[in-house]
Amino acid sequence: MLQPVSETALRDVPGAGPSHDIVYKTPMGFDLADNNAFTSGQPFDYYKRLREEAPAAWTPVPMAAGYWAISRYEDVKRIELSPDTFSSQRGGINMATGDPKDGHTRLAGAALNTLISLDRPYHVPLRMQHRSFFTPDYIAELRKKVEVKVDALLDEMERKGPVVDMVKMFSEQLPLFTLCEMMGVDEKDRPKIVRWMHYLELAGHMIAEQAQGRKISYVFLAKFLWNVRQMFRFGERVLQDRRANPRNDLLTAIAQAEIDGEPLSQEFLDGAWLLIIFAGNDTTRNSLSGTMKLLTEFPDQKQKLLDDPAMIKKMVPEAIRMVAPVIHMRRTLMSDTEIAGQKMSEGEKVLMYYGAANRDPSVFENPDQFDIERTNSGDHLSFGAGPHVCLGQRVANMQLEVAYEKILSRFPNVEWTGHTKQAPNNFVNAISELEVNLGT
Ligand code: HEM
Repeated sequence: MLQPVSETALRDVPGAGPSHDIVYKTPMGFDLADNNAFTSGQPFDYYKRLREEAPAAWTPVPMAAGYWAISRYEDVKRIELSPDTFSSQRGGINMATGDPKDGHTRLAGAALNTLISLDRPYHVPLRMQHRSFFTPDYIAELRKKVEVKVDALLDEMERKGPVVDMVKMFSEQLPLFTLCEMMGVDEKDRPKIVRWMHYLELAGHMIAEQAQGRKISYVFLAKFLWNVRQMFRFGERVLQDRRANPRNDLLTAIAQAEIDGEPLSQEFLDGAWLLIIFAGNDTTRNSLSGTMKLLTEFPDQKQKLLDDPAMIKKMVPEAIRMVAPVIHMRRTLMSDTEIAGQKMSEGEKVLMYYGAANRDPSVFENPDQFDIERTNSGDHLSFGAGPHVCLGQRVANMQLEVAYEKILSRFPNVEWTGHTKQAPNNFVNAISELEVNLGT
């Protein structure tokens, strides 16, 4: 019987250094472990320096395990494709998971007790049980509902426009709608999930601030804890309800999933709930907003789409390559190994920087150029690769396609005004505001 990962995972040992000599000097100028450093977006210039000067860069983290930052495409891909050496289960996939014993017990536990943090032999059978909600046929049906929703959201933007916050009025609404349709969450409960997402995006930041002894507003902390509690209570209630009253939805698939022939324990139900609302929402939200920024920054590419809307299908992987909505995923070494000539020991951590790998010039020519005609844009690693490759990638691509087909045909002059805000988050590229002028 599988023990909760939160009980068996290797605990982070803050302050411990690597056991082998460090080959590459980590460049100065950006602190990858600092959530606040990401409020100006991802550090693409710094990633370039990492790829060139320190492809395995030792990065200490206050109050958590230090790690090797991996930035070259081939190295990131090798890690993704070698789960027996680079484990998701041994230490979780996020730098800021926090220790379940440190107070945020349910949240920290749920971040570990979930599909994405499992290895062989548990991972694949559990993943297969979600499969029917991610097939092309299912997504073709879902697309019809997404089209109707996009029209409604654009109507509302036009009413409030011409200058509107795209995140609030569109980017956070659409993935929520799509996910709720897949999960079967009732209409009246949907706005709560947006609120929970807001707090979840700040969780890593909050845990890091607390761990470093910095003060967090009592009011914020109280709101945070209350919202997290509500989120888990809601998930627990709906999943128990689906066990008793199955429907044809993703929540029922999760509620009926089994590990080793046993129904998921409450710990794993919490984890499944957290994963699905976080993985499906936030990532797509940020790719929708990030694409608008790109179209404004590269008007010639936007013009090509206006001239030939059939190109939107090709634009989507290129936009996801450039945006890299997930900043990193973490793995723990199951045995000694070497990356880019750097020796590493069992138990040490590597973090894969997708935004860095996606702009590796050895794979993507002129990588900082948004080029919707790029022939290999689909080779990007924003969805990961290998056994954990994003289960929802077709759902994400479909939403981007529908969104931009409709946005560009209705508002050909739409532009980002230059105003944007990013939440302090070193795990996802968390665009929390993006002002656009619809040009109407
Ligand atoms: C642009 C949008 C998205 C991006 C960039 C993204 C990215 C990722 C990444 C990097 C991983 C982990 C890969 C690894 O550990 O190697 C992942 C896993 C996952 N994603 Fe996504 N994702 C997106 C959208 C979605 C959506 C819409 C859903 C659900 C509807 C979803 C559900 C999942 C699930 C369930 C996993 C875990 C798969 C496993 O461990 O086997 N994602 N995603």
